[in-house]
Amino acid sequence: MDIGELHRKMQKRREIIKSNMKKIKYKIAVMSGKGGVGKTTVAINLAISLAKSKINAGKDNKVAILDADIDCPNVNKFMGIEKKLSIKNEKIIPIEKYGISVVSFASLQEREDQPIIWRGPMLSKAIMELLEQVEWGELDYLIIDLPPGTSDASLTIMQELVPDGIIIVTTPQDVAVVDAKKSANMAKELDIHVLGIIENMSGEIFGSGGGEKAATDVGIRFLGRLKLDAEIARCAEKKKPFVLEQSKSAEEFKNIVNTIVKEVLK
Ligand SMILES: Nc1ncnc2c1ncn2[C@@H]1O[C@H](COP(=O)(O)OP(=O)(O)OP(=O)(O)O)[C@@H](O)[C@H]1O
Ligand SMILES: [Mg+2]
Repeated sequence: MDIGELHRKMQKRREIIKSNMKKIKYKIAVMSGKGGVGKTTVAINLAISLAKSKINAGKDNKVAILDADIDCPNVNKFMGIEKKLSIKNEKIIPIEKYGISVVSFASLQEREDQPIIWRGPMLSKAIMELLEQVEWGELDYLIIDLPPGTSDASLTIMQELVPDGIIIVTTPQDVAVVDAKKSANMAKELDIHVLGIIENMSGEIFGSGGGEKAATDVGIRFLGRLKLDAEIARCAEKKKPFVLEQSKSAEEFKNIVNTIVKEVLK
């Protein structure tokens, strides 16, 4: 394939993605600089909370989640999804669970423990193929669970999908906070609106306040804090999103979701 043909193919792909994305009202990506801070936990529970909130003239919101962590896709694992994605009329059909549509690269893998060792451009290509080939349909919200860091996958999502907002998750410790600021600055440089920062795993062990400080330092909204909570960990073990059970954390998360929705609709 010559360069011209490659360029035309890429252009065509971008046009299809653009037209797919036009059918989605709000695209929100969940990001963090540091790994393991709770992005996937936030993304899944946010998607489910949004699906259950009837802000749309009394109708349930239509919500999908895209697991854009191609190396270590965890959304399926956290939601207890073992099914593979099906294909209809040459389009990939998302998997339905807990009232939301789920698209994860894990649903295309043969085995869960199969390593994906790809270089940056291949990761970007895989994400673009998902954006292009999935039958997204009309959606109120698409939540994107990003891998940690500010590398290829995050860049592709920001440039090709162009989220309406980014949510940054951090733990209260200094190392995570520095990385959270990096993520906020990346989004700002790319002209993507940062909805705010969530402090996760706050409490006696990791302390508290780092997320709020990071938000103040970079001039963005503090969305709230979620405690380090055995109940959240227990729900993850059961493969059940914690907002589906009653707990103090589920109540706290409701307030965070309300703040996010206000910021999105502003
Ligand atoms: N507030 C919390 N209380 C207790 N456990 C939590 C909390 N938030 C997340 N966890 C647990 O911490 C682990 C890491 O969370 P999660 O996978 O959501 O982080 P991540 O940022 O998506 O990680 P990665 O960078 O690997 O994608 C999971 O086992 C999750 O169940
Ligand atoms: Mg994750």
